Amino acid sequence: MIFAANFKMNHTRESTKNYLNVLQQKLTAKKSADRVLIFPPATALDSYHGDFTVGAQNAYMARNGAYTGEIGLEQLEEFGIRTILIGHSERRDIFGERQEHIAEKFAYFKAQGFEIIYCIGEALEIREEGNEAVMAHLFAQFEGIDLSYEKLIVAYEPIWAIGTGRSAKTEEIASTHQALKQKLDRPLLYGGSVKPANIKEITAIEGVDGVLVGSASLDVESFSEMIFA
Ligand code: 13P
Repeated sequence: MIFAANFKMNHTRESTKNYLNVLQQKLTAKKSADRVLIFPPATALDSYHGDFTVGAQNAYMARNGAYTGEIGLEQLEEFGIRTILIGHSERRDIFGERQEHIAEKFAYFKAQGFEIIYCIGEALEIREEGNEAVMAHLFAQFEGIDLSYEKLIVAYEPIWAIGTGRSAKTEEIASTHQALKQKLDRPLLYGGSVKPANIKEITAIEGVDGVLVGSASLDVESFSEMIFA
């Protein structure tokens, strides 16, 4: 299983360091087949070593240059960061990243050999239209994306389940993952209100290769509880 923690705009450099210290002590008991990925905010990136991988939540598709407010390859290389989240619904919806831009970013970091956690998900209106509409929407988010990239991990995160406390139902996750797997031969994570109370149920679903956790990953005890559930 893959356990990924997306801190979003939470935690500081100091609290991330403390978090990873505590996490590492617990991870010495981790099953070797399990992987743990942590995405702290850009200001907390550093050269961490442990039984986990630290990745970037976002970066711009250039080595360096006149891109005010962004970080690029040079800033990631400083800390040996080789993993990135691309296409998160918050990047798409709040920051207006269009599919074309996301696909360009994907191509850039693929060319750099990064491991890419590529996020897709639908809004509630689309889910309410039914399965066909959901799949059409999700497949449209694969436009311009090389699904055969060997360092690709896909994360399905229904937007209506993110930060709401209301995870998708087992049947919804199962049927969506099954449909996605017909197109995809890469690990597929589920994200959206994953927490200690539902982790076992979610990781037991066929087609779920791991989880991408927001709120319930912010506390190291809660995140470790999920890894060792
Ligand atoms: P929550 O776990 O807070 O619902 O967030 C999920 C998410 O967006 C992870 O990327």
